[in-house]
This record gives sequence, structure tokens and C-alpha cells, in this order.
Amino acid sequence: MWSTNRFTFAAALAGLALCGFTTPVVADDAGEREYFVACAGCHGERAMGDGPLAGLLNISTPGLLQLAQGNDGTFPFEAVLMTIDGRDGIRAHGEPMPIWGERFQASATSQRGETADMVARGRILSLVYYLASIQE
Ligand code: HEC
Repeated sequence: MWSTNRFTFAAALAGLALCGFTTPVVADDAGEREYFVACAGCHGERAMGDGPLAGLLNISTPGLLQLAQGNDGTFPFEAVLMTIDGRDGIRAHGEPMPIWGERFQASATSQRGETADMVARGRILSLVYYLASIQE
């Protein structure tokens, strides 16, 4: 029993150390996982705009690999962030892309006292970093 606890404690410490040293990688992983769950259905697993749901929409689903190319080689960080969030109402379309800011906020559970808005922003930021990392 005691040794199990000690092992768990050591594992937790190792986990913490790992988080400290690899924060950007962890953030990328979170964004990637998020992408596969929330976005790949429409935008495709390889972000080529060819997810299984894409064919069901009455407008074409864009690929997300050329966002930088389409912006003179610079990843349009803020525009992508606003597009995904969608809560500001600026986004022209609104549909069929879900308003992720609202969804993430509504489903947020706080573990360390974060507000629902902070949780939503964190998830969106991870997604933006992931998209930035896969640009062609
Ligand atoms: C129901 C299908 C659907 C899902 C799910 C979806 N999208 Fe989209 N998305 C679209 C469509 C269709 C467009 C193009 C029209 C529009 O902007 O609404 C789009 C546009 C975008 C754009 C703008 C692309 C450009 O060329 O300017 C980004 C960025 C984007 N989506 C990211 C995401 C992310 C990240 C997720 C997951 C959190 C996601 N989308 C989930 C359908 C979807």
C-alpha cells in the first residue's frame, strides 16, 4: 500500500516535471485531440476540407492547410481565432460552422477556479496553435 502510494507520488512528480518542460508540445497535443473530435468531421482528418460531413453541407468546407499561404505567408492568428470562437458576431457566415466559443463555454467545467470563458478561450487557443503547426 505504502509503496503504491510512493510510486503514485513519484509518477505524479515526474508528470509535473514533464509538463513544465514540454508545455508547448502539450498544448499542441491538446489542440490536435480537440481538432479530431470537433473539427475533423467537416474539415477532414488531414484538414483538407474532406471530412465525412463535408459532403452533406450545402456550401463547400474549406481545407485549413493554406491559411498562411492565403495571407501572404503569415498565419492569420487573430482572424482564425475569431473565426473559431465566433462569439463576437463579426463572422459573416455563422453557419454552418458552429460557434465554438459558445459551445465550449456552455460545456466548461472548472477544476481550479477558472471561469467558463477562460476554459473556452484555452481550448480555442490550442486549436489555433494546432492549425498554425500544420500549415503548408
Ligand atoms: C459542421 C461542419 C463544420 C465543423 C464541425 C467545423 N467547421 Fe470550420 N468551417 C465549416 C465551413 C462550411 C466553413 C466555411 C464557411 C464558414 O466559414 O462558415 C468553415 C470555416 C472554417 C475556418 C475559416 C477558413 C477560411 O478559409 O477562412 C476555420 C479556421 C475553421 N472553419 C476552423 C474550424 C475548427 C478549428 C473547427 C473545430 C473546432 C471547425 N472549423 C469545425 C464547417 C465546419
